Parts: sequence; structure tokens; C-alpha cells
Amino acid sequence: MINMIKYVQNKNIVNVSNEIDVINLEFFSNGTIRIFKEKNSTKLYELSFPKKFLKFNVSENSNEITIEYLNYRFIINDKLEIKVENSKDIILNIDFSTKFCDVEKRNYYSTTLNINEDSYVFGLGDKMGFLDKKGYYYESHSTDDPTHQDEAYPALYKSISYILFETNKHYFSIFFPSTFRYTFDVCKTNLDKVIINNFDSSNDLFLFLGNDPKEVTRRYSDLVGHPYFISLKTLGYHQSRWSYENEEMVMDVYNKFKEYNLPLDYIHLDIHYMDGYRDFTVDKNRFPDIKNLTDLLKKDNVGIIAINDAAIKVDENFDIYRYIVDNKLVGTLKNKPYVNVVWPGDSVFPSYIDPKCREYFENKANEFIKETGISGIWNDMNEPASFKGELPNNVIFKNGNRKITHAEIHNIYAEHMVKCFTNVFKKDNLRPFNFSRAGFATTSKYAFCWNGDNFSLWHHLRYSITQSLSLSLSNFIYNGDDIGGFGGDSNKELLLRWLEANLFLPFLRNHSTLNSKHQEPYAFDEYTIKTYKKFLDIRYKFIPYLYDLAYRMNKFGELISRPLFYNYPFDKECLKINDQYMVGDNLLVAPIIDKSMTTRAVYLPEGYWINYFTNEEFKGNQYIICSANLDESIYFIKKDSIIVNYENLLHINKLDITELVIHLYGDNGEYINYEDDGETLNYQKDEYNLYKIKFNKNKFSLITVHQKYASNYKTIKIIKDGKAKIIPFDYKVNINLEDL
Ligand code: NOJ
Repeated sequence: MINMIKYVQNKNIVNVSNEIDVINLEFFSNGTIRIFKEKNSTKLYELSFPKKFLKFNVSENSNEITIEYLNYRFIINDKLEIKVENSKDIILNIDFSTKFCDVEKRNYYSTTLNINEDSYVFGLGDKMGFLDKKGYYYESHSTDDPTHQDEAYPALYKSISYILFETNKHYFSIFFPSTFRYTFDVCKTNLDKVIINNFDSSNDLFLFLGNDPKEVTRRYSDLVGHPYFISLKTLGYHQSRWSYENEEMVMDVYNKFKEYNLPLDYIHLDIHYMDGYRDFTVDKNRFPDIKNLTDLLKKDNVGIIAINDAAIKVDENFDIYRYIVDNKLVGTLKNKPYVNVVWPGDSVFPSYIDPKCREYFENKANEFIKETGISGIWNDMNEPASFKGELPNNVIFKNGNRKITHAEIHNIYAEHMVKCFTNVFKKDNLRPFNFSRAGFATTSKYAFCWNGDNFSLWHHLRYSITQSLSLSLSNFIYNGDDIGGFGGDSNKELLLRWLEANLFLPFLRNHSTLNSKHQEPYAFDEYTIKTYKKFLDIRYKFIPYLYDLAYRMNKFGELISRPLFYNYPFDKECLKINDQYMVGDNLLVAPIIDKSMTTRAVYLPEGYWINYFTNEEFKGNQYIICSANLDESIYFIKKDSIIVNYENLLHINKLDITELVIHLYGDNGEYINYEDDGETLNYQKDEYNLYKIKFNKNKFSLITVHQKYASNYKTIKIIKDGKAKIIPFDYKVNINLEDL
């Protein structure tokens, strides 16, 4: 039977209907299209919509509606299936439907994306496994399961319903905006179909089109919001454990790092610092004078970070409990505060969704930070985790008079929690130090993240790279793994390989679980200390390079660490690589991640590549065999590029950084270096500098293209072909490299 279709255009929305149903296509200016039957509520989070696009052309022929938009055509047939094509190829077929579920006895909303069988499917946040998610079933439903092991595990801490596709050299991506649970059958049941189901919302998605992954990922990031700009110091090394449970243990970590000259910027306190696991309290037996401790360490540029859990201990004498219960700022079931068990035992779950609740926690955090001198907040158990089964779907959280079910808020509960703390820092004109385990697509505006409870297992080291890169593609660009592995006992070889592999991932923290074997760098032997130091020194050298990328992450939604295909989208080989990554445009990391191995194949994309350690040069577009003993790793610099470094840092303190080191690789190159005070929000008032650094044969120049910050640099050191020269810093420098 043929259904007659018709369309109505209302500004940037085309509404197409047959005799049974209707779909809408809403066009925005920059390759972003929202396609929906009914829009989902986005009231629980903020989106930044691009401008409306009005210049598309709609026509009707042989019972099809064709919409021409930029270089694409959307062809909608009488069954309301949407074919998206460009001048050369069909890119995608979208099929919306409402189906009946026999088990649950209710309807659900299904979206089928018909793709070419050879396509690659990336994204989906922190799922374990390979970059390409094809062949597996996943869910967007935040969970706290400490047993997660492999690529078949459906859901972890973050719920990010974002998928990036490569199909026949075309890139596009899709974001599903509902906060309710989704399921994703990624070419598991049908080799050419990604089937996305959701019971509680409606058919609704954002499609991002563009020429390459950088463009489409940026469009997604523009919509959900770029990650916040971290401070320079956040890029330093973090030492953590569950737990450094008293002052002596913290001092021991600090002293050992000092003794062995190991770079260190933060020590993290896990739950033992609290009094009975009550948030914003300190156990006075373990930490008699925490302010004194934080002050002492701060003098040497080491900050203390404290964990903060989502749920609050049931205790009539605990002021936070009393306040949130008395003011009805907790989740309720049948009108009574809902209680489940977390670390403190019986606990209630604050309605962080309510601005009044957030204001209360913001004030609490503010007082706590002032009293204790801690430098940042580590937000945990915010899926929300609960040990006696998951919170029932019908637990109610209130926002004023609006009642929101746990089913709707679950995946974004963490976002409202972490939102409480960003203002605490902002009020002091500081960039927040706020990080989280759980989150939604929009959460990185408020907090960065770590990747949850991995294990000290070799395959978890392998997946640390892919998990981190998948999170980056999904807009949690600033993230990192527990180095050495969290669960189980680490060992010398695993720890060192983990550090070498994760060295350039944005967040660099060694963390391990309760009662596990200690895995601080000095917990093994002299060799481990020496090697750990060698690599931490390299990390600290690359701080300005990473900071430039952190700036670009915040400004443009660009990735810091990237899958190879992000930089080389049309090199088919790059789409397959899971065990190498790029950092920015110029650094390629190809670590050894298998036990006992000292040799591996490395793929070098087009161009020429210089081994970071040996300076040997290799032609790209080929696999080469590289070796690295346990105290070595495999990093390459792109030829004809510039790398900026700092030297001899043990802590990151902007005032101590007075020299910019500029390495010139090859014959010519161009690079933009960013500088600001590294910690305040003054960059938002334009108080930063951008230096355009260039070299061509023997000519070198540095030109300040944006100058609103009184630079800290006193000298610059230029290094090329093993020769170096230090010259006074100026906002404009021209030199002849023959003088080196
Ligand atoms: C779970 C977190 O993922 C882990 O990092 C932390 O150590 C424990 N909770 C204890 O707080």
C-alpha cells in the first residue's frame, strides 16, 4: 500500500507526514540536524543550539520528499524512512518506529540506523573494549559494577548516547538526547544495523554532518558544551590510594616523592579521611589538623584533593542529613525519604536537581574548602551507586514543584551533583578542580572525569587507551585511567608499562583499591623509581604542549589525546588501530602493552616521523617494528613540527616557569602556543597570549598574535638538530637558526 506523503515547512523545520505518522527535520546552520517524531525534554541539562538554517530546498516527486541541505540530500519515502546522501554515496538510512514489547507489555521507541557493513562505529563514552563498537550490545544506563572486565560489558559509569560513524570515507555522528535508558545493538543482530531502543522518551536524535571526525565531533561538542578549561596544575601527576588514611601516610607519600625527586602536584584522599564516611567532615583522629597539613604541602606546591560521595549518611545528629531531610531535598518513595546503603551504611540521596539543594551543598563545600585548605573535589558513587540494589525507578526527586522520577534523572544525577561545586571555585575567580566518575554528554562543562574502577590486568591496560579515547570522542575529553590498575595487585612491569602507555592521557593519576599491594613508584625497587621518574619527567616537559591542547579543548571542542583516524581520517589503516594514539597533531604514542614483550609493530601515518628517544627518522604510511625495554617506550614526533616544553619541573607553579623551550623538528613548521596565569578565570576576560611560532630552513620567528597577559617567560630556549640556544624572551623574536 502506498501512503501519500506531504510536507509542511515552518522556518527551519520540515514536517513530513504520511497517512499514519509524522516526522520532523530541523535544520541548523552548521551541519547539525535534529530529527524527531516528538522532541524529548532537555530540561535536565543545557544545550547550546546553533543558528537556524533557512536556505534549504524542499521538493516532492514520486511520493518522496527531497530536502537539499548544504552538500547533502535527505530523501524521505512514504514509510517515512530517511535516506541521507551526498553527491556520491548514500551515507545513512534512518528508520524510526514504535514497537510493542511483550515482556514489559508496553511500547518502546526504536531507531534503526542502516549503515554500510564496512562502517566503523565509535564513541558511546566509557564502554570498555575496542574503539570500534561493532558486534556488541551496549546500554546508556550508569552503573557502578566493580567487576567490569571486557568489551562485552554493556554499561559503565557514564551514559553518553553519542555515536560517531565512518562509512566509506564519510563521517557523521548522532546524539540521542533523552536521559532515560537506551539500548544499543551495534551491528550485533544485523551486520548493517545499529538499533537504538528507548522505552520512555520518543524518537529523537541530533545528526552531525561534516567532512571529517574533527568537524563532526566539534559540532556535537558545540551543542552539548565544550569541556571546562582545567588549570595548568591539573596536568601534573596525581598520587592516590584508597586510602592514605591518616596524616602520617600522606606525609610519607609527600616525603618519598621528595626523596626520589619524583614530580608530584596532588595527593588524593579517599573516604577514610571522613568521619564515618560523612561528606564534608574530617576524622580528627586520623587528621588532627588537616589545614596545617594542606598549608604545609601547599608551600611546596602539592595540593590535597578530597573525595566526596553522592549519598548522605542517615544520622539524626549529622547536620547535612538533618537539613536535606527537613527541607525535603532528598529522593522519596511513597513520600518518605528513600534509603539505600552506600559506604556510610544507610544513606539518603540528595535532590541535587533542586537549585536550593545545590546551593546548600555549594555553601557546604565552600566552608569545607576554606576550613581544610583542600584544592579540589573528587566526586564518587554518583551513578548513583547503591549497594542494596538500584534505586527503584519511581523514587521521586523534586525540583521545586516538578517531580522527576529516578528513571529519568538516573543518567544525569551526577551532573547535578558536580554542578554544586563549580561555583565554589568560580567565586574565588579560580578554575574548578572538580572531577567525577559518572556523567552525561553535557557533564564535562562542570567536571572532568576518571574512568572508574579498572583492574591490575594487562587487558585493562590495553583498554585504558581505547576507553580514554572513546570518552574523548564523546566530549569527556579530559579523562584518565587509574594507572597501575585499581582492583587487584599491580606489579612492577604492569605499573611501568601503564605509566608509559598513559603518559600523555590528559589526567594522570595512580590509584589503587583498599588492601591491594601498594603501587606507588617506590613500592617496588630502585629500577622502578628510576624509570617512573624518567617518564614523569617527560610528562612534565610536555606540560605546555598539553596545556595548548587543553585550551583548544575548551575553545573549540578539540580532542587532546586522539585516535589516529581523528588526525588521518582517510587512511583506512588508522581506523583499525586501538593500541596507539596521537596527542595533538605532532606526537604519536605507540606503547608496549603486553606482558614480557619488548617489540611491537607501529603504524606511522603519512609523512615522516622522528623517534622521540633516538631521533631516527622513518617514512610514514607503513608499519615498522620497534623495540622498547621496560625502561623505554615508543613515541614519535611528526617531522616538520614544533613541540613546546618546560624543563626541570617537579611541581607546576606558574611563577616558577620562566623559560619556554621550543624544539624544532625537520625543516619547517608552524605552531600556536598559549599562555595565561594557568589558574584563574581571567582568560575569559581575554587575559592570555597566543604566540605564533614558525621556522623555515634557517629562519625562526615568534610573533605574539594575541597579547593581553604579562608573560612569565624570561627566556626562550630553541633546540634544533641537537643544538640549543637560550635567548631573552620577547613578544616578537626573529633569529637565524645558523646562529644556534
Ligand atoms: C569507588 C571509586 O571508584 C574508587 O576510586 C574509590 O577508591 C572507592 N569508591 C572508595 O572511595
